[in-house]
Amino acid sequence: MPSQSSLFFYDINTVLEDTRNEVTLGLQRPQKMISPKFFYDEMGSELFMEITRQPEYYLTRTEISLLREYADEMADLMGENCLLIEYGSGSSEKIRILLESLRPRAYAPLDISKEYLGAAAGALASEFPWLEVHATCLDFTEDFELPFTMDARRVAFFPGSSIGNFGRIEARAFLGRAQRLVGDEGGMLVGVDLKKDIAVLNAAYNDSNGITEKFNLHVLTHLNEKFDADFDLKNFAHSAVFEPEKGCVAMYLTSLQEQKVQIADTSISFKAGEKIHTENSHKYTKEEFLYMALDAGFTQYHFWTDNNNRFGIFYLT
Ligand code: AVI
Repeated sequence: MPSQSSLFFYDINTVLEDTRNEVTLGLQRPQKMISPKFFYDEMGSELFMEITRQPEYYLTRTEISLLREYADEMADLMGENCLLIEYGSGSSEKIRILLESLRPRAYAPLDISKEYLGAAAGALASEFPWLEVHATCLDFTEDFELPFTMDARRVAFFPGSSIGNFGRIEARAFLGRAQRLVGDEGGMLVGVDLKKDIAVLNAAYNDSNGITEKFNLHVLTHLNEKFDADFDLKNFAHSAVFEPEKGCVAMYLTSLQEQKVQIADTSISFKAGEKIHTENSHKYTKEEFLYMALDAGFTQYHFWTDNNNRFGIFYLT
């Protein structure tokens, strides 16, 4: 089959004005916040890829080794000819490991970064000419329907411990929506970063090459470009630290001085030392995650982990 005919692209992302309101409302809260989804424009997605290559960021390496080691077993459980839906597909790097064993009927990557998604889906469609690719640009943190129909069993793929970027209540709600999306015949393969030594966690989010710092600050550049804001990156500092009571690495940008920032026609005031919360990366024990998945409507699971119990992959049905 020629590669061109196997790629379809849909854009059902939220309108610009709604997203700008979401940002300004977040920055007017007592604890200022920017949703981590705003990291991912084209540059942000590239910076995240660079993070995954940092020696301290063990998550991606560990998950990739697990996918390589157990690809056949995972593919057997997921079943041939499925419609394979990937949440937050980014570069679609990890799914390549499973594609040959899995042989899905179609692959549906979902991502918020339109240009990045288009390029990644195009590259994948030419690399796997037998595969039908239906790429959709959307915000999957919201409820959505797939913009196309296909009579095939659905299997979702959500690697990278991106589920950790939801709060616990949101993660439970997300798993419930995912279960409804794949239905009772479907399944979900999901990567989860496990609780471990705090020093290992803190190092992973404070790499010595400063890439996580760049990634965190880049969210401000994205807002400057997308919403006509005037953040001066020099006036903010990165921090990321594991907060045991919440079970997550919390990432912030701290204002280094008293300042005002304009976002379109809204002015936001900062005190010196005031923080913007930009991301939580929740870490789970195997039992904590399972409890949540079962509560969300899944009833059976398989679990794979590495020798050091750093990272876990669940297949939920
Ligand atoms: C995408 N997500 C799972 C990453 C994480 O580890 O929470 C994003 C990230 N933030 C800082 N470093 C990586």
